[in-house]
Amino acid sequence: MRSERINSLIEQYRPGYGLPAGFYTDPEILAADIDVLTPLWYIVGHTSQIPDPGDTKVVSLFGESVIVVRGSDGLVRAFYNVCSHRASRICDESAKGLRQFTCPYHNWSYSLEGKVKSKRLEVIYDASFDPDAHNLRPCHLRILEGLILLSVSDTPTDFDAAYQPFEELLRFYGLAAAKVIRVHGFTATANWKTLVENTIDPYHVPVVHPNFTKTRTPAYWQAAASTRTADVIAAATQAEQEMKEWEAALTQLPNVTGVVVQDGEHDEHFRWLVRGPLTPGFQSETIGGKRVAPLMGRFTESDEASVFSNLNPLDSLFMSPDHATIFNIRPLAHDQIYWETIWLVDRDAQEGQDYDIDEVCEFYNEVNEEDFPIWEWTYQGATSRAYRPGRLAPQESFIGEFQRWYVRRLRQQVHTPEPASA
Ligand code: FES
Ligand code: FE
Repeated sequence: MRSERINSLIEQYRPGYGLPAGFYTDPEILAADIDVLTPLWYIVGHTSQIPDPGDTKVVSLFGESVIVVRGSDGLVRAFYNVCSHRASRICDESAKGLRQFTCPYHNWSYSLEGKVKSKRLEVIYDASFDPDAHNLRPCHLRILEGLILLSVSDTPTDFDAAYQPFEELLRFYGLAAAKVIRVHGFTATANWKTLVENTIDPYHVPVVHPNFTKTRTPAYWQAAASTRTADVIAAATQAEQEMKEWEAALTQLPNVTGVVVQDGEHDEHFRWLVRGPLTPGFQSETIGGKRVAPLMGRFTESDEASVFSNLNPLDSLFMSPDHATIFNIRPLAHDQIYWETIWLVDRDAQEGQDYDIDEVCEFYNEVNEEDFPIWEWTYQGATSRAYRPGRLAPQESFIGEFQRWYVRRLRQQVHTPEPASA
């Protein structure tokens, strides 16, 4: 039944246009979407949030609750937050300095390494009880320069192959030696694809985000905002030329400039990683371009550039020489998303002395507030009887790429053959 509905939507999809409404509004689409998304890896935090043994972070990913914990040996592990006895949730919230996990239902306990160890077991069970069969179930976890990533699939994608190209830049920006200074989350009434399509859309930026627009040179935005194809091509050519001149002038990072990764519809993860110049004189991606925290990583001065990246369709990482910002889209229902923003600065920076939290967070707080109504209005539009998939502009070609990536993966889920021409 599910595949019939999805097949009908796939048949209605026309590349170059928006998705048919049901891809956003049909309650049945979420289960298929989760099947598409779960094999990938998602950012759930940073190691600075659990610095000491026994520190835990309870996170939620595609309906699964997972405990991320630093063990007595200092290693970070992840376990499904499900008791091996009768399945109660074990940890309700993140905590500091736990010695063990204790289930609130019948007090079974587990070591920080996930081994069942309660004395109650010895009293109640006979020799046939196999403790090893009752340890906590581990969840796939990897650390990427301090970023904690999870996959809640039994067969996740190849992490090393996916993120090795990110390592050099993340290391240069000192992400492993950063600390989280603020996490801000809120929900919106929208489908997750509404948000993905917004986050990779340069066409709306000069219209919706005036301060963001000022952080890039006019040619960059002329390419996004022009209404005539010839102007778009001319502005894009000029922006490309400016990028080349900037790369040639760089001495600090000779090998990691420009477009490092740009996945398309045929790639597994839909990643992208781009390093490009800010407006001349802008030290950081902030309102007015001033630096708001000490330089991170290997920077000795700002090189007036920033990094934009996506590790998957839902998780973005933007980095300036003095701070980094992570954005996570988490689908809660077909019509509800959780949007989380995480800000990081160098771990040695002192609040109040070296940086002001509100000042660091001001820029992307404003961008979030500007985008929020757009997400909800766009979703409401998709639920209207008047909705028709609109034609994508040339500057929205990356949205078209994402939609083809998504539909291709959905086809694989429901085993629908590709059309001959695809
Ligand atoms: Fe956890 Fe019984 S369900 S101890
Ligand atoms: Fe936006």
